[in-house]
Amino acid sequence: MYSKWLDLYKSKLKTLDEAAAMIKDGEEVYCALGGGQPFGMFEAIGQRIKRGELARVALFAGNVVVQTALTDPEIQDRVNFDTPFVGPYTREGTKAGFYTYSPIKLSDMDTVSARGLRRGDVYILRVSPMDRHGFFSTGINVDYGWGMAKTNPEKRLLIVEVNEYMPRTYGTNHIHITEADVVVEHHVPMPYIPDLPLTDVEISIGRHIAEMVPDGATIQLGIGGIPNAVGKFLMDKRDLGVHSEMLTNCMLDLYKAGVITCAKKTFMPYKWVGSFAWGSQELYDFIHENPMIEMHTCGFVNNPYIIAKNDNMISVNSTLQIDLTGQCASEAIGPYQYSGVGGQADFVQGAWLSKGGKSFIATPSTTRGKDGKLISKIVPLLDYGSFVSTPRTETHWVVTEYGAVLVKGQSIKKRAESLISIAHPDFRDWLRFEAKKLGFLS
Ligand code: COA
Repeated sequence: MYSKWLDLYKSKLKTLDEAAAMIKDGEEVYCALGGGQPFGMFEAIGQRIKRGELARVALFAGNVVVQTALTDPEIQDRVNFDTPFVGPYTREGTKAGFYTYSPIKLSDMDTVSARGLRRGDVYILRVSPMDRHGFFSTGINVDYGWGMAKTNPEKRLLIVEVNEYMPRTYGTNHIHITEADVVVEHHVPMPYIPDLPLTDVEISIGRHIAEMVPDGATIQLGIGGIPNAVGKFLMDKRDLGVHSEMLTNCMLDLYKAGVITCAKKTFMPYKWVGSFAWGSQELYDFIHENPMIEMHTCGFVNNPYIIAKNDNMISVNSTLQIDLTGQCASEAIGPYQYSGVGGQADFVQGAWLSKGGKSFIATPSTTRGKDGKLISKIVPLLDYGSFVSTPRTETHWVVTEYGAVLVKGQSIKKRAESLISIAHPDFRDWLRFEAKKLGFLS
């Protein structure tokens, strides 16, 4: 049987340039998040645009983390990046109006496609090498890419970019050679995040949250420095489980220390459930062909009703700014899109629906502006033009290095008092003064 699939593979195999030449002017190309993006094809498509062989292309791709010709500022007027998560290589272009952001929760991605609200012409997915049954897996990036491709029967082309560095994973994430129109090969290591040393602020935040995590809880850790730091303070817990859109380095550390067993999970026990991984090469090696890891589409992993099947669900995410009523602007600085809503709102809601569940929005109390000035991240009102990622009705616990406070179910007066109590001391008088002016406090 394998030779039949291998023959089919060979018949569909093209060079990157040949495959890029199949994309027509103005077509919409859909790709997955971060490490799931076809960087070989990105380079080839970008080079065609640079050579004037393709006038314009539209790309739907979240969190672009690798520089290729496609994100070269020289051609940004001809590449319409539309991203559900702004990343390092699309931030400036989005700010300048060349690229655009699509505010879509990860849980909604597949449905948005299935209902025909968003559809691409061409889908390009980065995959692990074909197995003996003729299947490719989308490895560490199922996210929305696989689900959007599968739910669009009208797509013109499905291209798979085979990368021998892409781990092979189990779950709902396979594409059969009979489904792919074109196969290309591009073997480069997966992008990874190095582990940075923890700051004193992260240590304090990690300790505050760890105190509220019971043994047997199931954890979700979001993107950014803080959620990763929190994991390091869970080392004395027992039988933690994983149900998290993103699988991270600190989860592997907890597993190696015997803390993560998934044995007490009330949903999919003994399985780590994730939708994408973003971490070290060691994490990717661990995930490769590991039957304990199940990778599913974010339409499933991020569905709040699925999340809630896990008792004692603990969700940890970060924010850029929070106001005294509990509104979290987590993805933009004023009107400038910094990242994306991702799965923050999904997990805040899912953890609330879970028996014994808690969600934490964790942030340092301050940051430094471009001029080096200290800025409070807790503010009376969000900056002009801010976008709310987690509405104040949903925010449960908020944590800074000065403590953890309960927001959910509380009055504006109580919220203002408690959020001021965990603000940086230099800003507490100002916050109280402004809160009085706004009628939040007397
Ligand atoms: N005002 C102005 N600038 C601010 C700011 C504020 N209140 N807060 C942060 N910044 C700046 C920082 O100085 C930093 O600037 P730099 O890029 O020039 O260094 C930048 O914004 C990012 O802040 P940082 O705290 O370093 O971000 P992070 O990497 O820890 O990520 C979030 C934090 C909030 C951006 C990230 O968690 C996120 O995107 N969250 C939304 C999506 C989400 O939670 N999804 C769920 C899991 S995928």
